[in-house]
Amino acid sequence: MPVILFCSNNNDDPAAWQATLAEHFDDLDFRSWPDQMGDPSEIEYALVWAPPAGVLASCVNLKAIYGLGQGVDHIFADPQLPENIPILRIVDPWMSQAMSEWCLLHILRFHRQALEYAEITAAKAWTKLPFPDTAKRRVGIMGLGALGSDLAGKLTALGFPVRGWSRSPKNLPGVTSFAGEDALADFLADTEILVNLLPLTLDTRDLMTTARFNQMPAGSFVINAGRGATMVEPDLLAAINTGQIAGAALDVFCEEPLPQDHGFWGHAKIDIWPHVAAQTNPDTATRQIVDNIRRLMAGEKPVNEVNFNRQY
Ligand code: OXD
Repeated sequence: MPVILFCSNNNDDPAAWQATLAEHFDDLDFRSWPDQMGDPSEIEYALVWAPPAGVLASCVNLKAIYGLGQGVDHIFADPQLPENIPILRIVDPWMSQAMSEWCLLHILRFHRQALEYAEITAAKAWTKLPFPDTAKRRVGIMGLGALGSDLAGKLTALGFPVRGWSRSPKNLPGVTSFAGEDALADFLADTEILVNLLPLTLDTRDLMTTARFNQMPAGSFVINAGRGATMVEPDLLAAINTGQIAGAALDVFCEEPLPQDHGFWGHAKIDIWPHVAAQTNPDTATRQIVDNIRRLMAGEKPVNEVNFNRQY
């Protein structure tokens, strides 16, 4: 019988997780932090989102830490994170689909000039802009893992030329691959719609600065559904205010919830979403969590394990 600690401050419903997990285990000791944690030394598996510092360290017999999302930076933010426990992350096609839908919503809004037409029709005008040509619209995706490759496939099916930037070169049909820091300027130089799906790691923090936004064609659009801290927020705001960047759709922020006095709020060119582009779905994610726990219980190697040094 696995002893599972559930610890999340992210609107996740412990009862929903307990119910779906209980469908797979005949016997389950499910404990919700903080009230039902009991003796921390009894906890074997932790399902977490942004666990408070020290909670995981107090579980001295922990066998694995499962992030309740696709990114795991919220786990590495714990300064007392134990070092020798496998960290696992969710990779769920259902979430890839959700993420692609959210990105396509904003790509198509920009591509089909929704921002301009909103202004035109707000003035009760009947002005027609030059029509956009999909085959000439250059969309660039940063991060070509499960999420980025799903989006790239859907974009190429729609006829968009797609460019992708990642740590190592990728071979995806219809996608021009750019890899590593040295190729970033070339990737940005031709990217009119930038979609960031990168995780937050030591390498990606503060990646997009004023200098980087200036490498993009003037009037480009930025979509961020990866992590807020991969972009320097004051630099993005300044780039939007000068018109270098025409606007942004943002689902992730350096601080969440976005602080009330943040300059993004109320900005006419910034579309703010409360980190909902691809929410974790217990119905679809539970299966892989259960399979991984079973692997660990059988002494086998789990899948989707995070590289501790790369923090992803
Ligand atoms: C994330 C998620 O990691 O929502 O941001 O899965």
